[in-house]
Amino acid sequence: MRHFLTTSDWTRAELQALIDDARAMKESPIGDALKGKTIALLFLNNSLRTRTSFDVGAHQLGGHAIVLSPSGGMWPLEFNDGAVMDGDAEEHVKEAAAVLSRYVDLIGVRAFPKFQDWSEDRKDKILNAFAKYSSVPVINMETITHPCQELAHVMALQERFELDNRGPLDGKKFVLTWTYHPKPLNTAVANSGLMIAAKFGMDVTLLCPTEEYVLDRRYMEQASADCKANGRTLTVSHDIDAAYDGAEVVYAKSWGAIPYFGEWEAEKPIRDRFRHFIVDEDKMRRTDNALVSHCLPMRRNVKMTDAVFDGPTCIAYEEAENRLHVQKAIMKRLVG
Ligand code: CP
Repeated sequence: MRHFLTTSDWTRAELQALIDDARAMKESPIGDALKGKTIALLFLNNSLRTRTSFDVGAHQLGGHAIVLSPSGGMWPLEFNDGAVMDGDAEEHVKEAAAVLSRYVDLIGVRAFPKFQDWSEDRKDKILNAFAKYSSVPVINMETITHPCQELAHVMALQERFELDNRGPLDGKKFVLTWTYHPKPLNTAVANSGLMIAAKFGMDVTLLCPTEEYVLDRRYMEQASADCKANGRTLTVSHDIDAAYDGAEVVYAKSWGAIPYFGEWEAEKPIRDRFRHFIVDEDKMRRTDNALVSHCLPMRRNVKMTDAVFDGPTCIAYEEAENRLHVQKAIMKRLVG
């Protein structure tokens, strides 16, 4: 049995096979690969795209999805092994995962970090507990990485570069840029963007305001190793002009600085100094006609200007649509 927890567990060839299948299903969306199968979608955080696209995807392949969430009446869960359960939690994940496994064929989990202590958050305890105690495959629907988003992003890049006769992803300059947001956000999409760009052979630049916004070393080291294996480079830059110069892909995301987890009041004045990291037309003019994207949801004219987001090089809607197709391919692969 195989889970889909992180793209680090899957080779580039395996991920490309998922994308190829997703592209085939984009052409021909209805099938019966999940006939008689059910997926439980556990949402401990909000969602628009993930919830809808998994539900629709299961339906299009003849399967069924059940959404579970604390606001939908699920029992509060305990995730620590050996816990004395005298707090709010009524049920341990050990029972929840084991029982769900007797009803459904797949379990999707969305569980964002608590943003108080990164050394705890980086253990990805909830996702790993489901993977440990479930006897059916588990899909990461965004925890501290967002692997489904990674595949949708690569698929959108490949589609558009092919359409524009601009060749494969290998060797393209990929810039992951931090952008301002009034609140500290999850690093998941940034971790994922960095890793998938490296895995698919791009020259990767991480643009962020200061060293404090560099991502967890686990993802930096993974991306660096993949870049090296592909004969490419991973560069960290705090220089906006240098990072944008010649870029062929600009991926925008905001995230909280890891050293400030739990001390967000101290981070706020630093973050507030870097509102100018917004993706705008002036910056995009420095690029090599770069494709630009964002995972969504996105605050317009804070992270990216209307002109860039609504412009011809933005592929955010394609990426969002591709969530549906890649997740169908993942579900098919795991229970097929
Ligand atoms: N990008 C993404 O996962 O969107 P949702 O948070 O709306 O699911």
